[in-house]
Amino acid sequence: MLVVQQLSHSFLNGTEPTRVLIGIDFRVERGEIVALLGSSGSGKSTLLNLMAGLMKPTEGSILIADRKIEKMNENELAVFRRTHIGFIFQSYELIPHLTVRENVELPLVFQGLKAKLRRERALTLLTRVGLAGKTELFPSQLSGGQQQRVSIARSLITEPAVVFADEPTGNLDTATESEIIDLLLELNVNLGITFVIVTHEHEVAKRTKRIIQLRDGRLVEPGSDPEPLAAETDVAGADAMGTVAAGHAGQNEEADSGADRRLREGEKR
Ligand SMILES: Nc1ncnc2c1ncn2[C@@H]1O[C@H](COP(=O)(O)OP(=O)(O)O)[C@@H](O)[C@H]1O
Ligand SMILES: [Mg+2]
Repeated sequence: MLVVQQLSHSFLNGTEPTRVLIGIDFRVERGEIVALLGSSGSGKSTLLNLMAGLMKPTEGSILIADRKIEKMNENELAVFRRTHIGFIFQSYELIPHLTVRENVELPLVFQGLKAKLRRERALTLLTRVGLAGKTELFPSQLSGGQQQRVSIARSLITEPAVVFADEPTGNLDTATESEIIDLLLELNVNLGITFVIVTHEHEVAKRTKRIIQLRDGRLVEPGSDPEPLAAETDVAGADAMGTVAAGHAGQNEEADSGADRRLREGEKR
C-alpha cells in the first residue's frame, strides 16, 4: 500500500548539502497503524512530508496505492494528495472563520461534491469522532483535544488510502493525548484506516502494533539489521573517484569517502 524504497533526502544549507534521511526502506500494508518514532531532529517530519508528496526526495521512491508519487508533476500531486492522502497536524490547522462542520467539509469542496452530500458526510464523521453536538461552533470555541478531533474527521472525509499524523498529540495534556490515540486506534480497527503517526514519545509509539524508529536519518527497526545492504565491493573503488557525492545507498561506513563523512558530520550538527 505504502512502499518507501531507498529514500534519501538532503537540504542545502548554504553551500553544503545536509543529509537528513539516508537509505530508508519500509512498507506499510493497508489497514496497519504504525508509529514513526525518533528524537527531535531525527528526520521524522521530513520523511512524513516526503511521503505526503509535500516535497520531492533527493533519491529513492515512494509508492502509495501503486503510484510513484515522486514522478508526479505538481498538478497530478495536488489531485493525488486531495484524494488519497489525509494529514493531521500537531497544531490542527483549522480555518478559524469556518465552523467545525465547514472545516471538515472543505476537502470535498475541492472535489466538487454537492453541498447536501458534503454536509451528510461531515456530520457522520463528526459524530464518529464524538463531536455531534459541536458541529456549528467555531474552532476557537473548542478545547485542543476537540480541535484535534475535528482535524481527524477532516483527514478522513475523502476516504484516503493513508493518513499521516505529525505529532498529533504534541500540544495536548497526557489525558487528552491518550483519548486522541484511543480514537486513532479505534478508527484503525473499526474503519480499517491506515495511519502513520509521527511521535517522539515512546508512550505514544508503544500503543501502536508496530514501531518504525528513526535515528540520525536512518531506520532502526527492532529485530532487523540496521545496515541491510552491507559493503558492495565495487562501490569502494567508485567512491575513491569521488562519485559518492551523488550518494550510494547501502554502502558501508568503512567505504565512505571524506566527502560522505563530511555530509554525515553536517547532518549531526
Ligand atoms: N527546510 C529545511 N532546510 C534545511 N534543513 C532542514 C529543513 N527541514 C528540516 N531540516 C533539518 O533536517 C533535520 C530533520 O528535521 P525534521 O525532519 O524536522 O526532524 P523531526 O521531525 O524528527 O524533529 C534537522 O536537522 C532539521 O534542522
Ligand atoms: Mg517534526
